[in-house]
Amino acid sequence: MLTLLAALLYSSASGRAEQLPPPKNVTLKSYNMGLVLEWDPPQNSTGRNFKYSAEYKGWSNFEAECNGTSSLSCDFTNSITSFGTYTFRVRTELEERSSVWVMTEEVALDKITAIGPPYVRLLSRKGEIEVDITDPVLRKSDLSNIYSKVSYVIHYWIEGKLKKEELRGEQRKVMLQNLTPKVCYCVQVQILLDDNKTSWPSNVTCEINTNSDEIKPWLIAMVLVVSSIVTMVSAILIFLVVMCVYKVIRYLHPQPTLPEDFKQYFSEMPQSSIFLAMQNSHQPEELYYEVSIVADQEVPTSQLDLQDTECLKLNT
Ligand SMILES: *[C@@H]1O[C@H](CO)[C@@H](O)[C@H](O)[C@H]1NC(C)=O
Ligand SMILES: *[C@@H]1O[C@H](CO)[C@@H](O)[C@H](O)[C@H]1NC(C)=O
Ligand SMILES: *[C@@H]1O[C@H](CO)[C@@H](O)[C@H](O)[C@H]1NC(C)=O
Ligand SMILES: *[C@@H]1O[C@H](CO)[C@@H](O)[C@H](O)[C@H]1NC(C)=O
Ligand SMILES: *[C@@H]1O[C@H](CO)[C@@H](O)[C@H](O)[C@H]1NC(C)=O
Repeated sequence: MLTLLAALLYSSASGRAEQLPPPKNVTLKSYNMGLVLEWDPPQNSTGRNFKYSAEYKGWSNFEAECNGTSSLSCDFTNSITSFGTYTFRVRTELEERSSVWVMTEEVALDKITAIGPPYVRLLSRKGEIEVDITDPVLRKSDLSNIYSKVSYVIHYWIEGKLKKEELRGEQRKVMLQNLTPKVCYCVQVQILLDDNKTSWPSNVTCEINTNSDEIKPWLIAMVLVVSSIVTMVSAILIFLVVMCVYKVIRYLHPQPTLPEDFKQYFSEMPQSSIFLAMQNSHQPEELYYEVSIVADQEVPTSQLDLQDTECLKLNT
């Protein structure tokens, strides 16, 4: 009210003959760090081609942004910075005449701006759902450059159920755990900025949870038992096959059979000492002596007798 009064005084001091009616419903709209001033035409303005001028002021003087425009809005996004406070004003103009300025409050862009919804993508695997959050694209900078604390509030629930679970964190990729397999879950995410500011909530996104791949202990035991049985059976089969093949070969190529006596002889042979000796000893060296054969000579009987007598002598 005070600013409006000041503006009225200022414009009356400029000494214009006929005052134009000022724009109505002047409002600042800020979304994702963009800033647009909007207004409605003055009352009773039908049929009059009003023009408007809009200006902004940082810490020094007002600067023109939209000069003599016929549109009912002015976008200041490219002229202002993310931080700092600004005041805006707009007036009606027609030829040389103009209205009083209508001024806004002093505002800080990061405080007044509305942050749009994040984009949420769901991906289910192994019985869990991964929530993939993408920040909204800002007209200026990005969330982490503007707000010192950026966190995410994830609400998820089984489709059609009222009970919602809540998860808070600073990660943009979050796994929802302990979910029921093959059940449709819905997720909605909101961004929490510097304790008190929240983004618009995301669209509700739903996804059917997958089966978990978790291996059950009884399954491991069964696999072990089955595989050992298979191994045993195949070992037996291989043994039988080998036996059969052997027998067939033996049948086709029979070994000559020896009579029982021979078998016994051969089986005993290694035990005979001669055989062993023959096996163990070297070939004996053969010695040759000259042998001469002479005619038979008569042995003197006296000698034979002597021998006999001596024996007799001993005996006597
Ligand atoms: C100002 O806005 C209100 C609602 O936002 C509306 O009812 C009214 O008609 C508007 N005034 C003008 C002059 O357009
Ligand atoms: C606007 O029109 C109304 C009647 O519709 C009239 O009483 C009023 O004086 C007009 N105001 C201006 C500023 O022309
Ligand atoms: C606005 O435009 C007019 C001409 O259309 C010009 O004379 C005036 O200096 C401009 N004002 C600013 C602040 O740029
Ligand atoms: C939300 O859903 C609407 C309609 O399906 C779509 O146009 C919009 O882009 C979605 N917004 C986000 C942030 O995903
Ligand atoms: C947080 O927002 C609420 C209203 O939404 C307000 O009453 C409160 O003062 C705010 N707190 C801080 C620390 O900004």
